[in-house]
This record gives sequence, structure tokens and C-alpha cells, in this order.
Amino acid sequence: MTRRCVCPGSYDPVTLGHADVVERAAALWDEVVVAVLHNPAKAGMFSPEERRKLLEDAVGHLPNVRVEVFANRLLVDVCTEVGAEAIIKGLRGDTDFAYELPMALMNRHLTGIETVFLPGDPRFAHISSSLIKEVARLGGDISGLVGDGVRDALLARLQTES
Ligand code: PNS
Repeated sequence: MTRRCVCPGSYDPVTLGHADVVERAAALWDEVVVAVLHNPAKAGMFSPEERRKLLEDAVGHLPNVRVEVFANRLLVDVCTEVGAEAIIKGLRGDTDFAYELPMALMNRHLTGIETVFLPGDPRFAHISSSLIKEVARLGGDISGLVGDGVRDALLARLQTES
């Protein structure tokens, strides 16, 4: 039986911290579905399709990982649809844990699915998609925080915004 997990997120855009969690999940499970969960009511910097492409660049070299986009869906329903037995989340610290715990409990309440937390690599503890966007918007250097493809896409998007 193929054991599959889901790495869910907004991924707007994918960071090196996200990619590290996906890579570590891929070493633990037979297959990983990276689920871009998109709420059409919330405009992000990148479209769902752009996020998917940037993720493909970041984790596409991992043979047992695939990236899919889902709009307006409960995560537990996505997990049932793709046949995943677990949800994987990276934790950078106690703030992440406080945010993630109620979601993990709610998801287990809904279908019984378990969430597995991986400790975030300390090298990436200060990285989030929102901080990356803020730093880039204000002219800071985001090299080494995201892949080169994401950096270039972000700087190009900021050019069109200004
Ligand atoms: O990268 P993020 O923004 O921390 O990801 C949060 C995400 C998308 C994983 C979470 O908001 C989610 O699971 N959304 C799907 C809708 C859903 O299932 N909501 C109930 C969660 S208990």
C-alpha cells in the first residue's frame, strides 16, 4: 500500500523553509502531495497557478512529490480525495504551534486524520512568505531566503506593482 501525506499551505510564495519540510516529508512517506489551498476571496501576490509553478521549481526534483492546487476546499476533503493518511506541517516555534494546534485538532475531529509536526530547520526559523514579501517590497535582499526563481518572480511582480 502506498503511504501518502499532504503538505498543505498558501505558498504565496514558497520559501526555502517550505521546501525543506517537503523534502523531509518525502524521505518519510512514499508519496507527498503539496496542496496549494487557495481562497478565491483572498487575493495573494501570486495566482494559484503561479504558486504551483514556483513550487514545481522548488521541489520538482523530488520524484515522489507532486503539486496540486485546490480552491475553496476543506483540507480534510483534499486529504480524502488524494488518499493521504497524514497532514505534515513544519513548526518554526511556539507561535506556529499555537496557530497549528487548533487546526490539527479540528482536522482530526472532522475525519480522524492526524497531523504530524516536523521541527523547522533553525536555518529557516525567521522565514515566512509574508516577511519575505515585506522585506522585498521595502528593498531588502531576500537572496538565501527563497530560491532564485522565486526571488526573480517576486522582484518582477513588485516592478509591475510600482
Ligand atoms: O500557509 P498557511 O497560510 O499557513 O496555510 C494554511 C492552510 C491553507 C493550510 C489552512 O488555512 C487550511 O487548511 N485551509 C483550508 C480550509 C480548511 O480546511 N479550513 C479548516 C482548517 S481546520
